[in-house]
Amino acid sequence: MTKHKPIRKAVFPVAGLGTRFLPATKAIPKEMLPIVDRPLIQYAVDEAREAGIEQMIFVTGRGKTSIVEHFDIAYELEHTMSERGKDLSVLDSSRFTPGDVLTVRQQVPMGLGHAIWCARAIVGDEPFAIFLPDELMVAHTTDSGAGTGCMKQMVEAYEQTGGNLISVLEVPQDEVSSYGVIDPGAEDGALTEVKGLVEKPPVAEAPSNKIISGRYILQPEVMRVLEDQGKGAGGEIQLTDAMARMIGTQPFHAVTFDGRRYDCGSKTGFVEATMALALEREDMGADVRTIMQQLLGQGIQS
Ligand code: UTP
Repeated sequence: MTKHKPIRKAVFPVAGLGTRFLPATKAIPKEMLPIVDRPLIQYAVDEAREAGIEQMIFVTGRGKTSIVEHFDIAYELEHTMSERGKDLSVLDSSRFTPGDVLTVRQQVPMGLGHAIWCARAIVGDEPFAIFLPDELMVAHTTDSGAGTGCMKQMVEAYEQTGGNLISVLEVPQDEVSSYGVIDPGAEDGALTEVKGLVEKPPVAEAPSNKIISGRYILQPEVMRVLEDQGKGAGGEIQLTDAMARMIGTQPFHAVTFDGRRYDCGSKTGFVEATMALALEREDMGADVRTIMQQLLGQGIQS
């Protein structure tokens, strides 16, 4: 039994415009783009469930309805499939206990911090998790199957530390200015104390090369901080800026994820994830490997 309030709710901000994937994302949400045969949002929701989270809160916007429908019961589809004797288990992970999928609307995409603030009424007075679904976190495989997912690793750390936690990873120093960066304090294994946070710093001013990587456990007080958070980098209301203001008032730690992360918000990261996960699949990995070798052998180049 943990002395800290359990993490039962997760917020998935999915109201962004996904401009880097246009024209694909003109009518389809970025979060519904599939890596092999599961949409990005499904990977994030599965990771949340593995970590014991029950309620999924989607911060949606215009044109994002298909994300919510994905977790609905597709009655006609299921009926027709079972009449034809088809295996329905492929749909299991997209099913939910009624009432456990909730949505709020962010009418104008004013930034990640603003998107999170839109969920304040549902989050209430509980610590909660945040998942950016375009960051795909893949657990290492072990001899006994899949290893521990990113959020589960964070929840385990949270049971020791309480307070606020963010997942981080190290990138080459010259890439830091695209990300939120931590000012690191004492380190203890995968856990690093966070002394400061800065969003998209110039390379020369970055306090480290440890970047925030799309998973958070935050205390509900962040909603009060977001209430009067002004615009930051890119003219958007930044979650990083609000979190930075909480340091010193509550425990704040970073967890270095023991696993792999793919930045599926970028086209190359998306293709990398597709290739990596396809290669690992039991049902198609060998065929994909042969295809990739053939493509490279044909001398296809830029
Ligand atoms: P991104 O920075 O990746 O922005 O947002 P984006 O709009 O999705 O994509 P690009 O940069 O235009 O290609 C990170 C996460 O925060 C959400 C996005 O949906 C994504 O999951 N977000 C961002 C919101 O929900 N609302 C916002 O106002 C901004």
